[in-house]
Amino acid sequence: MVNDNGFSTSFGAFTLSRWSRTNTPSEQNLQAWDAADELLLEHLAQVSLPESARVLILNDQSGALVTTLAAAKAPGCSVQFATDSYLSTQAAQKNVTANGGDVTQVTWLNSLDRAQGSIDVLLIKLPKNLSLLEDQLYRYRDQLNPHTKIIAAGMVKHMAAGVFKLFEDILGATKTSLAKKKARLIFCELDKTQWLPAPDLNTHYVLENTNYQITNYPNVFSRESLDIGTRFFLQHFPKKMQVEKIADIGCGNGILGLVATGKYPEATVDFYDESYMAVACAEQNFTRAWPDRMASFRTDDGMSNALPDSYQLIVCNPPFHQHNVVGDFVALQMFRDAKSALQQGGEFWLVGNRHLPYKDHIKHLFGNSMVVASNQKFVVLKAIKR
Ligand SMILES: C[S@@+](CC[C@H](N)C(=O)[O-])C[C@H]1O[C@@H](n2cnc3c(N)ncnc32)[C@H](O)[C@@H]1O
Repeated sequence: MVNDNGFSTSFGAFTLSRWSRTNTPSEQNLQAWDAADELLLEHLAQVSLPESARVLILNDQSGALVTTLAAAKAPGCSVQFATDSYLSTQAAQKNVTANGGDVTQVTWLNSLDRAQGSIDVLLIKLPKNLSLLEDQLYRYRDQLNPHTKIIAAGMVKHMAAGVFKLFEDILGATKTSLAKKKARLIFCELDKTQWLPAPDLNTHYVLENTNYQITNYPNVFSRESLDIGTRFFLQHFPKKMQVEKIADIGCGNGILGLVATGKYPEATVDFYDESYMAVACAEQNFTRAWPDRMASFRTDDGMSNALPDSYQLIVCNPPFHQHNVVGDFVALQMFRDAKSALQQGGEFWLVGNRHLPYKDHIKHLFGNSMVVASNQKFVVLKAIKR
């Protein structure tokens, strides 16, 4: 469900909404664009797009940019949209349609796809994660040319140190605009003469106490080493139940589901995440560890597309933010999804920071909650669907 908001640009006025299933006022009232979107569109209107421009848009969180270009029917433009976020794709497609644009006229790509053809205009909303940006600059640079307009936009407070150097090192000369409403643009000119070959941006480690090789794609949670919350969960992992179907919700690199696969030889595991890289990475890690076992890998918002009453065990290390927005609304939605997807008698196990009120939330939802283990930082909780 989405709410409505007026977004006024030099290309016209639009109605934009974030993707949300939670219906909480705090989340519903969040704006679906920021001053960096406004600044970028203002700049584009001033320079005017080249005739029949082939535009590639990256990391457009709720689709403010793609909606504007698709709905304003920029003459002759072809637009490609690439993101690592399933939620962003959902929001953008809704917003394009709601504003009279034609979703079939946009090429929808995920973060692992290559773009199609050569690119005249590359518009980048700066992601929080510099490794993702680095991956994107290397991934698409072959499709740019010295005339490609390369423009990135971000809020100053989210611009990581090192962002300018990445553009300089990977693409070419880089300069910035003055800040306006705490947003800034970055302009870059392609210079192929200085190019270094793309390095391997994935990280790799062996999961402690196992022989599982873990590969982490650039936008995956805790990509340098095992998260300490995940480690605590693994020390107190559920065992000794009759289990045929397990879900790992918010799977990241898939470690929880991987360990579950080892502990339950009769079970199949379904891995869910909203990040395309996470799901692909979980699949790679699973297939390497268990070439003969079955599993499924699903990009989804929580488990919104799971069949009700279908799992005996669901494990989760919930996120405490959705993109740049911090809050427990995502975790709560996952808890509701988990309850719906569990069979009667099925168990939901999670790890969380002990200062977060997850125990109360799951008690309220399931009618029961148990502390399996706790230390100074974390708590492992379990609830049973009655
Ligand atoms: C704290 S990480 C846990 C990753 C992994 N399970 C682990 O323990 O290392 C939370 C994960 O939730 C995912 N996530 C965030 N919002 C989501 C949503 N709405 N639906 C599904 N997954 C989401 C993130 O992409 C991230 O991989």
